[in-house]
Amino acid sequence: CHGMHTRNSHTKITDDNQTSKLLNTTFGNIKAENQSLASTFDNFLNNRRKEATKTIIVEVQSSDSCNDLYSYCSSYGPIHLMHHYTVDKNHFFLVEFKNIESRKALMTAATHIHHQDIIPVQSQMFSFRNIAGQKKTKKIQLSSSDLANIHVPTINKPTVEKMSSALMNHTNDITKQMEILYDMWKLDDIGTRLRFFTAHQMENSFTSLFPNNIVLPFGSSVNGFGKKGCDLDLVMNLDNNIMEKQGSRLVFRTKSIVSDQRSQTKKTMELLSFIMQTFIPGISNVIRILKARVPIIKYDHLLTGLECDFSMTNMTAVYMSELLYIYGESCEFVRPLVFTIRQWASSVNITGVGTPGTTISNFQITLLVLFYLQQKKILPSINVLKSLSRPEDVRISETCDCTFLRNVSLFPIMKNKNNETLESLLTDFFVYYSTFDFSTKAISLRDGISLYKPNTDNLYICNPLEKALNVSKNVHATEVVRFIEAVRNAAELINEGNEKDSRGLLDIFAEKQPRKKITFFNKSFKRVNVADLFDDKINDEHKNNMTNEDIKKERIRKS
Ligand code: CTP
Ligand code: MG
Repeated sequence: CHGMHTRNSHTKITDDNQTSKLLNTTFGNIKAENQSLASTFDNFLNNRRKEATKTIIVEVQSSDSCNDLYSYCSSYGPIHLMHHYTVDKNHFFLVEFKNIESRKALMTAATHIHHQDIIPVQSQMFSFRNIAGQKKTKKIQLSSSDLANIHVPTINKPTVEKMSSALMNHTNDITKQMEILYDMWKLDDIGTRLRFFTAHQMENSFTSLFPNNIVLPFGSSVNGFGKKGCDLDLVMNLDNNIMEKQGSRLVFRTKSIVSDQRSQTKKTMELLSFIMQTFIPGISNVIRILKARVPIIKYDHLLTGLECDFSMTNMTAVYMSELLYIYGESCEFVRPLVFTIRQWASSVNITGVGTPGTTISNFQITLLVLFYLQQKKILPSINVLKSLSRPEDVRISETCDCTFLRNVSLFPIMKNKNNETLESLLTDFFVYYSTFDFSTKAISLRDGISLYKPNTDNLYICNPLEKALNVSKNVHATEVVRFIEAVRNAAELINEGNEKDSRGLLDIFAEKQPRKKITFFNKSFKRVNVADLFDDKINDEHKNNMTNEDIKKERIRKS
């Protein structure tokens, strides 16, 4: 991570020696002076990270252990909250203390089980046992304020069936349906806590060797577009405090890296993966994918129920998460719209199917939605955000300049949003991409306009932070055609729904059936039969109905 931007102000997030980190480099100053507390990404990250240091998770027999566990833990200090959750029918409580001292005191009192073949590792993960013959902790009567902080039982992840029945109650109000869908699926408090806790466990496990290491969640776990049950993307930086202290005469003795930084990262990840698999409680099914462009370690966490992708070289991706987060914070339409479109894309098999890498991903769909909102003059371009940036917004990652205005309350006022509803935005999204010229145009969120493609990649979405890269380089031509078919079909279905009895969103969400023969409007709003259009034996009559764009698309398909 050499070359990463450094900052002068150092602020500790906690007084815990083991876990205190200096977040001065990666995320700027924790205090985030003069910034709105709720909306800065730094504050969000720092608050969640701090919570994790005061948290333990405890496996219990059932949710009935709640009062007993509450009583026991309370004897070490006041509890801020308790959440019940299950992983594969095993029951757990996440317990957050009000003060970190209570968590430390509890850990000092905890024990390993002797006379068993165990590796005596300590972490903030426990099981709660009954001791034969020993009186249980005196039960305390929980006050109503205590009870207000206990969340039990866990509400299970919604299913598509549950969502459909909730949407059925509002079939004539697509905006309402979009709000319901967002509320049902958005990552909830316990989901976010478990993600930060899982990151904290990794960080804590390597603190003695690397006291300044930092492990951060990124991607959908933190960018505001996370769905319940989404994977956890993690990135570790071994030294987050890279400023050389010029006045210091004592220099730490260290070893040299093997050959180059990339080889060293691979070597480090290989070693970490063995330690993770062998020593760290809950970590299971560790798979190393170290030859990839971004080497990752995949693993399952059996105690938090998360599927994790762990990497070490990808700090730019964290700033990308921040960019997406602040776009989501800046306008109330963004997140429900992205959720709805992601849900639609999954239901019509645009995402989540096929060979990974060749299909369109959730991240790419999100960028398509944000770009569309820029065209609607609802979101500013990244260039505008960069021009409005202040000195405290400057961030330079390993690979690029990630400077942009980070205070949402200073975003330019986008008047256009006053004329819109979620429903109108959804409809226009489908119409907008129905006529977008994917064959020659690239999408640039940085410029806020489409540009001519610099090469023949099938789908070209400029990386918002590293403009020269295409984040959708691997998407196959057929996937682009399928996307265009699907948006045209959705535009038509919504249009039809306005004329007859409609089920709102449910009309455009497919129910994972074999694909139907579909039709769409061409540019002159003449109906074109797509299935015929894409038949290899296109006759002249059909060709005459085709727009230039259709012909280009057909060329893409054939190539
Ligand atoms: N990312 C990136 N460039 C890419 C791919 C991914 O910067 N070409 C970053 C983005 O910040 C993205 C994150 O890596 O959000 C994680 O990627 P991925 O897991 O594919 O997407 P998510 O946004 O996490 O969505 P999902 O819920 O599908 O995991
Ligand atoms: Mg992800």
